Amino acid sequence: PASPLTPAADLPTADSFAFAFDIDGVLIRGGRPIPEAIEAMKVLNGENEYGMKVPYIFLTNGGGKTEAERCIDLSRQLDIEVSPAQFICGHTPMREMVEKYETVLVIGGEGEKCRQVAEGYGFRDVVTPGDIIKDNEATTPFRKLTDEERANSRKRNHGETKIEAIFVFADSRDWAGDIQIILDLAMSKGGYIGTLSETFDEGPPIYFSHNDIVWSAAHDNVRLGMGALRKMVEMLFKDLTKGKELETIAFGKPQIGTFEFATRLLQQWRKDEHRINRPPETVYFVGDTPESDIRGTNQFNDKSKNEWYSILVKTGVYQEGTEPAYTPNVTVNTVLDAVQHGMKREF
Ligand code: G3P
Ligand code: MG
Repeated sequence: PASPLTPAADLPTADSFAFAFDIDGVLIRGGRPIPEAIEAMKVLNGENEYGMKVPYIFLTNGGGKTEAERCIDLSRQLDIEVSPAQFICGHTPMREMVEKYETVLVIGGEGEKCRQVAEGYGFRDVVTPGDIIKDNEATTPFRKLTDEERANSRKRNHGETKIEAIFVFADSRDWAGDIQIILDLAMSKGGYIGTLSETFDEGPPIYFSHNDIVWSAAHDNVRLGMGALRKMVEMLFKDLTKGKELETIAFGKPQIGTFEFATRLLQQWRKDEHRINRPPETVYFVGDTPESDIRGTNQFNDKSKNEWYSILVKTGVYQEGTEPAYTPNVTVNTVLDAVQHGMKREF
């Protein structure tokens, strides 16, 4: 171990383990840092009794901005430098689907942000609900576009446009309008807006960037999330089609694919940033939502060659005194306790 006076840049890096962090309810709540999070990052960056730095990545189900923009926010909130090379959000793995579809509808987020994210990934033709409403304002009787939305929305003849897939990138800002448009397409003849299928089995595939029914924001109690929108869409489809099932697809935690993506990112990050060329023996995953974070970590641990160790904190969705739906390796109060627990287990 280095002396306490060694500058952080010169400290050795632990190469046998790493941390991965959920964001909402662990590090941030309602746009503000959870105080212990700032301290926890300092510990990982070398301010600890072992004189070592520890590699870490972020794995959130959230989204709605480019990874680069989200990293700028997180850097400011946590007083560290966060690189997109150590960051995955709910929609990040969706970039691997750009070759598969020509024209896609992107739902959620503020203004044009999610269209920009999708185009940044390389999606060639990105439609938003605003474009559809601009073409036919009767689509959503109670949603009128603002002047800004009308200016940004792209006019085209949607009757001639085949939507090949729907991607819900971030939380809807207008559930009624967005659900209407998703269902219009799910019930359409082959993805053409304005048509109505006779069989209701020819709509485009629908991808959600995660399936969290609730999440931890500024309010004391949990708030409805994208998984709740997904449930509403599926339920209403069944109701409107007299019993047909709509099968939608969720990305994000707890999906195994998301943890596999995280493993590749962590491997690359350890190599490029820390010059470590071997996989970690243990990855400590710190999360607040048993159904996504703990379930996903435990499930992946059973499949993965290295150990994935789940740590549940009490600062978010999980409420003290309740039985978590999925049992973590350990439950602690805050993310700082989680970091200390992992380091104690290692050293
Ligand atoms: O919308 C984001 C939320 O559902 C979860 O974010 O960081 O807790 O995975 P996170
Ligand atoms: Mg969370």
